[in-house]
Amino acid sequence: MAIINDDRPDMPSNFELIGRTDINDYEAIFDLVGREEESGLHFVKDNCDAAFTWDYNKGFRPQLDKLYEKAKRSQWNGTTDLPWETPVDQEGMATKAYREAGQRPLGEALIAGTAFEKWGEKEWVQFSMEYQNWTLSQFLHGEQGALLCTAKIVETVPWIDAKYYAATQVMDEARHVEVFSRYLDSKLSGHYPMNGHLGLLLDDVVADSRWDMTYLGMQIMVEGLALAAFGFLHATTEEPLLKQLLRYVMADEARHVAFGVLSLQEIYRDMDSHEIRERQEFAFEAALRMRDRMQGQEVWDRFGISKKDAAAVTLMDPDRPVFQSALFSKIVPNCKKLGLLDAGDGWLREKFTEMGCIQYEDFEDTTLDADANADSSPVERNV
Ligand SMILES: [Fe+2]
Ligand SMILES: [Fe+2]
Repeated sequence: MAIINDDRPDMPSNFELIGRTDINDYEAIFDLVGREEESGLHFVKDNCDAAFTWDYNKGFRPQLDKLYEKAKRSQWNGTTDLPWETPVDQEGMATKAYREAGQRPLGEALIAGTAFEKWGEKEWVQFSMEYQNWTLSQFLHGEQGALLCTAKIVETVPWIDAKYYAATQVMDEARHVEVFSRYLDSKLSGHYPMNGHLGLLLDDVVADSRWDMTYLGMQIMVEGLALAAFGFLHATTEEPLLKQLLRYVMADEARHVAFGVLSLQEIYRDMDSHEIRERQEFAFEAALRMRDRMQGQEVWDRFGISKKDAAAVTLMDPDRPVFQSALFSKIVPNCKKLGLLDAGDGWLREKFTEMGCIQYEDFEDTTLDADANADSSPVERNV
């Protein structure tokens, strides 16, 4: 039986949208752990129609055309433009970080009564290394999701300027998959399967028959969060190769998010309120899945931490709300620019308020980002 949203009986409840009533039910969030198929392949039925267009009028959509021309000039080579010879001492860096922090990473009060209580330096350093392996693995899988989604957009979007631009993004995403894969293989110490929450979202995005949903799910939500997450890691890592790799990837990602905003603005203008509501609901569902995917469930599972301990520690972590909401610093202003925040009766505004991330609504949207408007490759700009 579906649970009715008491406040808004006309709206689907959280349960209907995401399978749980409380968005902060961390035991349920930790219950979903990603696993890889033994075959090494994962298939999703793609229900979209491929669209040929006979209108080859290049530049009919000047902003997309401009972005396409910039993208062609902004290519870089993952093999030759990054200093792969840089030595990376993952364990040394994790040990240094642990000793400099001067305390257990989660704090004494947080871990009292949990499995972490008995951990010493060795366990924490190992956990930190595994967390880095997991983080980069999720970036890698997300990049493959972007590769598939952008190839799908080339097929399904009816506008020639968007097909041209999306084709450049396919190349960008192939390069991103390549560099994250190489970094994981040659500099880190292990791989993780795709996070369960991220997997659910990507399956939904690929399966949806409506081409604009690919844009909304991938270009706005997944890539918007990735841009913020890359920026956070770029600002905090001291490893020079990873720093440069992320900087180059971010320069491309800003263009990708801008492509999503510019394309969706046009079609959302003509949608009726029912269609817009479906997009708002999808944006909320995607936002929560992206938030939940950041918890690192697969690492905790590998260390044998129970979901009860994982949930307890996560809920009590004083840094969690700040970090989680900062991940939405790109998504919220872009949703506002698209009109999704306040359309209808402002349903999405209410949901983002419930998630604690509405304070980013007046941040700069990504169409204004310097990287999205750059006119040459990051290598030439020395970014
Ligand atoms: Fe990418
Ligand atoms: Fe991208």
